[in-house]
Amino acid sequence: MKQVSLARRAARLAPTMPASSHEHAIPFDSGHGFPALFPDLTAAAEKALTTYRHETLQYGIRPGLPDLREWIAGAMNMDGANVTPDEIFVTNGAKQGIELVCRLLLDEGDSIVVTAPTYFTSIPIFRSFEADFIEVGQDKEGLDTNELAATLDRLKRDGRKMPKFVYNVPDFHNPTGVTMSRRRRKALLELASRHGMYVVEDSPYRKVRFEGTSEPSLKALDHSKNVLHLGTFSKLIAPGLRIGWVAGAQDLLARMIQLKADGGSSPLVQRIIVEWCKAGNLAAHTEKVQRTYRLHRDHMVAALQRELPEISLLVPEGGYYLWLTLPHGVDADELAKHAAEAGVTVLAGSKFYARVDRGNDVTPKKHMRLAYTHSSPEQIDDGIGRLAGALRRCGVSSGGAVTERAVAHSHPTIA
Ligand SMILES: Cc1ncc(COP(=O)(O)O)c(C=O)c1O
Repeated sequence: MKQVSLARRAARLAPTMPASSHEHAIPFDSGHGFPALFPDLTAAAEKALTTYRHETLQYGIRPGLPDLREWIAGAMNMDGANVTPDEIFVTNGAKQGIELVCRLLLDEGDSIVVTAPTYFTSIPIFRSFEADFIEVGQDKEGLDTNELAATLDRLKRDGRKMPKFVYNVPDFHNPTGVTMSRRRRKALLELASRHGMYVVEDSPYRKVRFEGTSEPSLKALDHSKNVLHLGTFSKLIAPGLRIGWVAGAQDLLARMIQLKADGGSSPLVQRIIVEWCKAGNLAAHTEKVQRTYRLHRDHMVAALQRELPEISLLVPEGGYYLWLTLPHGVDADELAKHAAEAGVTVLAGSKFYARVDRGNDVTPKKHMRLAYTHSSPEQIDDGIGRLAGALRRCGVSSGGAVTERAVAHSHPTIA
């Protein structure tokens, strides 16, 4: 048959199936939950399949089950927001929420703002809509709103189009673990209002807090209805449920619902979730999640301090990840390969940068993301030991000196 050309978004993708993860490796690369934490949903599932069978085995209502939307609106309002059930749209996870926001807002050549680094799974979604990326740096207070303000002013001065939205993970950012300060949150919303952009608040980790106090969500501070908030049950209950939501202005959601090509999300899973939550299970479960992941985080930080004192990091107050800065001259991509050979999978920081047009050698190579959630404390000890061995193979001697071999193979790095 004559070769049919693929759509541009498909043609640039690899023609190979995603590599199966190293089956027996210790998984520090994934945002998976700790299997022993998954709750027993049997009673809720039984009720869903008996009492609610007529509803749960039927095609789903497109905006989502009214009971679940009401429960989500209530939970968000307890957290300082002011939303009605009509401002909640249930999706197949937050990732589908990201895709639907793009479907709603992006035409080819539109630009969006992301942090550098940003959530790596969102990058191919944005790219498939041919979005141009504007990267903004971040520090301990989160997205650098001064840099963003200067960038937006420059675009305006040059008569260029404004970005359609700013995508950010303000609570326990993926991958850096940073939580945005209140003044930066307010500054971001002020810029969005002034320049006519939406803010996409992707917030899967907000309740996974181990210590410290929460700042108000962007949605709670949003008086201009500029925020599209993405929520999910993946990180607190279980990612296999594939249920999340978008909270936003009703007129936007009405259009987004028409753009969700697969119809309503599974009513069976939604009913299981709402029955389980309404039975009062979530509060105690959330505490268990917080306790367990705090222990995992502390275990991983202690193991890193013991085995890899040459690595630096900021200890996050919650979330799933540690963002490491490697000793000068170590290439994280190379280290990730050595680590996989040693039986521990990690994600090199270079995967979290959206712009590919920086030129090959300036994408930061000195960072690495480790997830502490999926593995047990014993696996964490084992995995950090293996990672230390892999770092030695990259030419770093115990104590932090980089040997000539590592320097010779290193790439230039930027902060
Ligand atoms: C920032 C961020 N957004 C979204 C998701 C995915 O959420 P879901 O499982 O609901 O699609 C993740 C998961 O790792 C994430 O880190």
